[in-house]
Amino acid sequence: MHKLGAGLVGLLVLAGCRGGESDKPPVHLIHNMDTQERGKAYRKDSSDVFPNGRFMQAPPEGTVAWGQLGEDDLFFRGLDAQGQPAVEFPAALKDGDKAKEELVARGAIRYQIFCAPCHGELADGKGPVAGKGLLVPPPSFKDDRLKEMVNGKIYGAITNGVNNGNMASYASQIPVEDRWAIIAYLRQDVQKTVLEPKPGAVAVASDKPTAEYGAALYKQEGCNACHSIDGSKLVGPSFKGLWGKTESTTTGDVKVDEAYLKESVLNPMAKVVTGYPPAMPARQLNDLQISSLALYFQSLQ
Ligand code: HEC
Ligand code: HEC
Repeated sequence: MHKLGAGLVGLLVLAGCRGGESDKPPVHLIHNMDTQERGKAYRKDSSDVFPNGRFMQAPPEGTVAWGQLGEDDLFFRGLDAQGQPAVEFPAALKDGDKAKEELVARGAIRYQIFCAPCHGELADGKGPVAGKGLLVPPPSFKDDRLKEMVNGKIYGAITNGVNNGNMASYASQIPVEDRWAIIAYLRQDVQKTVLEPKPGAVAVASDKPTAEYGAALYKQEGCNACHSIDGSKLVGPSFKGLWGKTESTTTGDVKVDEAYLKESVLNPMAKVVTGYPPAMPARQLNDLQISSLALYFQSLQ
């Protein structure tokens, strides 16, 4: 009898170790707070509190998380009341000299971390990454074009990037206030321009097509990063002597006139000039702006 008993126990033990499934809860010696009554956030039918049977409810339409309203267009988007790139600095940041000093100091550190690799420690456009495979060279912040660039445009460059990714967006790395801190640093320490812009400084505009407006657009829209006006080849062809000439493109020869200019700007990939990379970013310029550029190009013969 003894032998039989021992054998049975042995069998049962083995059977218990076969690794099959069981409905019973596992042996759980110390419970801590492992099992407790709760509702599963996304599981339907688990709640009798709410009519839709879910514990976690969608927020009512139009709900904004605390502190995330972002209604100040100047601060959050760099835009003025007309929706144009702002000339001003957000009032909240420029009040008080001590605050301004702290802002500039913070901006200096953030600049060295995020911008210096390309734009250079001295902000002269000569960072270690510049010249290493970047299609367009990063500009120097000491150039007149960047000195005259309104704050909102620089803010836009950091937030949205430049020219379809020639410079990437830094919105996810750099919080809003730090973007302004970097601008404050560039204005006060690098460019020695004051935080407040010169009175009367505005982004260029015109109500009729003129060559002067075209010349201003050439700079303001950053065409000068890739197109020279003195005949030298940059990323794209020079605008000097371009007007009226016959250009060889991927879809055959074409005469450079206003229609071709318009297509080049709005839809640059339609015809790519032979011998150049398809690297021209599209721009949403209106007819008045295109006509002004056309007049400007005609003056560059
Ligand atoms: C990875 C390299 C790189 C980094 C990092 C970088 N930039 Fe740029 N940036 C560029 C390049 C390249 C251009 C020129 C793009 C063009 O003209 O198409 C540019 C252009 C700009 C312009 C001119 C925009 C215009 O409309 O012409 C501004 C302003 C600017 N960068 C600000 C910044 C600031 C501020 C930082 C740091 C937060 C920064 N950049 C970080 C590469 C970089
Ligand atoms: C990032 C560099 C870059 C920028 C910025 C740029 N372009 Fe270009 N563009 C090119 C390249 C590269 C080509 C030649 C390849 C092609 O046709 O797409 C070109 C071609 C052109 C052509 C055709 C030229 C020819 O010889 O037939 C016109 C016109 C033109 N660009 C206008 C503009 C204007 C106007 C702007 C500013 C609003 C501008 N581009 C900004 C790179 C650029």
